[in-house]
Amino acid sequence: MSEIRKNDLVTVEIQDLAYGGLGVARHNGFVVFVPNALPGERVAARIVKKKANHAQAVLERIEQASPHRIANPPCPVYDRCGGCTWQNLPHEEQTRWKEKQVVDTLRHLGRQEAFETRPILRSPLAFRYRNKMEYSWGIEPSERHGAPQLVLGFHKPGRFDRILPVPACLLQPEALDELHATLLQWAREQGFGAHDPRRHEGFLRHAVMRYSFTTGESILLLLTHEGELTSKEQLVERLRERVGGFKAFVWGINRGVADVARIEEERWVWGNPILEEEVNGLRFEISPQSFFQTNTAGAALLYAKVAELAELAADSRLLDAYCGTGAIGLHCACQAGGVVGVEMVTEAIWNARRNAERNGIDNTVFLAAPMPRGLELARCAAGGAFSHVVIDPPRGGMDKRSLAGLIDLQAPTFLYVSCNPATLARDIVTICEGGYVIDVVQPVDMFPQTYHIETIVRLRRRDG
Ligand SMILES: C[S@@+](CC[C@H](N)C(=O)[O-])C[C@H]1O[C@@H](n2cnc3c(N)ncnc32)[C@H](O)[C@@H]1O
Repeated sequence: MSEIRKNDLVTVEIQDLAYGGLGVARHNGFVVFVPNALPGERVAARIVKKKANHAQAVLERIEQASPHRIANPPCPVYDRCGGCTWQNLPHEEQTRWKEKQVVDTLRHLGRQEAFETRPILRSPLAFRYRNKMEYSWGIEPSERHGAPQLVLGFHKPGRFDRILPVPACLLQPEALDELHATLLQWAREQGFGAHDPRRHEGFLRHAVMRYSFTTGESILLLLTHEGELTSKEQLVERLRERVGGFKAFVWGINRGVADVARIEEERWVWGNPILEEEVNGLRFEISPQSFFQTNTAGAALLYAKVAELAELAADSRLLDAYCGTGAIGLHCACQAGGVVGVEMVTEAIWNARRNAERNGIDNTVFLAAPMPRGLELARCAAGGAFSHVVIDPPRGGMDKRSLAGLIDLQAPTFLYVSCNPATLARDIVTICEGGYVIDVVQPVDMFPQTYHIETIVRLRRRDG
């Protein structure tokens, strides 16, 4: 095998797409990852990093393009944003590759062979499907005159301290385009500065916009460091004039060092910031800080499929761990004897309880506690063994203690809902070592244009 070295220019055929959206090629047997290159393409790529068993390259030239390649992706900042890296592939091709990536990851990282994979459930919307957008503020040179100016956008790829201005992201509903424009114009007029994460000083930090596809209403959360938010009433006035369905504004303080859009202290609220969504005939209220699946139409497919795969009976007792506003538990409750939901965000649990009530569901209990402590409370509340466990943890997957506790419940059916195939596969190894076998794998396309993918895995106890 001839050596491959940093800075080499190599011509390679792309054979696969890795999770994360990198084209995969082999050069003299050596694996080379090439961003923005698609399967079936021959490309010239420059090696930028070499590791023991693979190399990373940058795409220099496409010598033969894939027939599927979209030469001009619709987003004007596609080549600089790093968010929608798959806008160069038609939606149907994206889902085909995602399905393969789920299976490959479960085989290689999850060490699983025999399972049934169901065809991916495709998101009804390919663009403008998100009900929540999280923007960051920054100071960047103007593209027109070069002078520094306030911008609202996303972090540039690999940069925690630089912001790419994104005026109208194609993943958000159109109502949020106007909300974004009005907010930015007003903030510039006020002369506000942006938070500088290197020095941990400066005022504006994040703007979170949430939208209901059911009611057409939107809300804005503006997160700042300590300071005075002048003329906020004027902002509200303008948003009410210009953004149809604008219903609430929340100003919150975040003093923390971590770059997360979390409100430590609410300073000022206008309107009622609780949104409502209807999913599969169930009505959900959602508080500003509560999680809700970002693709509302995709969530309908996901929740209906979880309830179907659970195969519940009138005597089933289901644990909905990491339940958020109770969406999974409430979808399952009408077919089950009882549901216990556990979640660490108290507001989300208030939502879940009210959601049960307003949908006339009376066989659920929702408990506010972080895992693994929530598991002890859930056991007490259940008053018996669980027949079904459903977990839907954050992207990082399960912590060891919580997962061990859930396996110890020995529920005959275990459903894992995950937005990250890598952590899913890692946890599946532990669950299978704990006495389960994978039965069905159901990929769900919740995040079109990005490499992200949702998966439902159903496991059964070997001795069940
Ligand atoms: C991916 S969301 C799933 C929510 C819900 N199943 C749904 O579909 O709307 C993960 C949820 O886990 C919650 N969470 C994160 N860490 C937790 C922990 N240690 N204990 C309990 N809940 C946690 C988050 O607040 C969030 O609501």
